[in-house]
Amino acid sequence: MLRGKTAIVTGASRGIGRAIALRLGREGANLVLCARDRAALAEVAAEVGDKACVLAVDLRETSAAQQVCALGMAEFGGLDILVNNAGATKRGEFLALTDEDWIDGYSLKLHGAVRMARCAWPELARRGGSVVNIAGVGGKTPGAEFTIGGSVNAAVLSFTKALADVGVRDGVQVNAINPGTVRTDRFEKRLDGLAAERALTREAAEAWFVASQRVTRVGEPADIAGLVAFLVGPEGRFLHGALIDMDGGATKSL
Ligand SMILES: NC(=O)c1ccc[n+]([C@@H]2O[C@H](COP(=O)([O-])OP(=O)(O)OC[C@H]3O[C@@H](n4cnc5c(N)ncnc54)[C@H](OP(=O)(O)O)[C@@H]3O)[C@@H](O)[C@H]2O)c1
Repeated sequence: MLRGKTAIVTGASRGIGRAIALRLGREGANLVLCARDRAALAEVAAEVGDKACVLAVDLRETSAAQQVCALGMAEFGGLDILVNNAGATKRGEFLALTDEDWIDGYSLKLHGAVRMARCAWPELARRGGSVVNIAGVGGKTPGAEFTIGGSVNAAVLSFTKALADVGVRDGVQVNAINPGTVRTDRFEKRLDGLAAERALTREAAEAWFVASQRVTRVGEPADIAGLVAFLVGPEGRFLHGALIDMDGGATKSL
């Protein structure tokens, strides 16, 4: 379905980004995969086959976006899809979070995504491409323990809407996905903590978590990857400026 298209996936070394890379690769896309861990990226690229190239970069650095886009142009001669997935924000008590924690979270998830979009945009416009921003449910339902992540996700959602309006003019599709809790390394650690804290097995701790959050289940990285593939494929094209909650019912508000 995506044969002949080239997709950039940021934060592709593990978790949701890895699943997106594998899924878009299975759909036939050429891939430009970036994150900081070169060895992990190389493993993902090897799983995809010979259509993936990797770049180890820190997307908080101002020159990184240009390097990633340049690699895609050099390897595949164009860019069609940008998935802004990289993100890492510190959780915890508001008064314990420092200026550095806030700057760090915003540098990667907001400024990194903005720079990637600005850099890739002329080429995406030339080829009628797509941007998918991976935000998070905390953007719409903030909470005390997630002040950085919640506010940066809200910023990403607002940016998505604004960029979608530019996309109407320039012929670039722009959407965002808000994942709920997804089974990544971070969740597995959280589950270990929960199991220890409540003297439960991991299975029982997960059941307790699901019930307490009033969600249908914990998401899998492949759930989010499947939605990305649909959005950027021909059947998803009319979705534009959409902020889609894929969260097992976690978002209770409109
Ligand atoms: N998992 C969830 O439950 C959940 C829920 C809502 C939203 N989200 C959002 O979904 C996205 C992916 O989450 P995830 O859970 O899959 O995260 P993850 O497992 O922690 O992976 C984060 C990815 O971002 C990369 N990354 C981190 N810092 C980077 C930097 N400075 N420069 C370049 N790449 C960097 C990491 O690779 P390196 O360490 O190799 O750089 C990794 O590939 C994030 O934006 C997150 O906020 C996740």
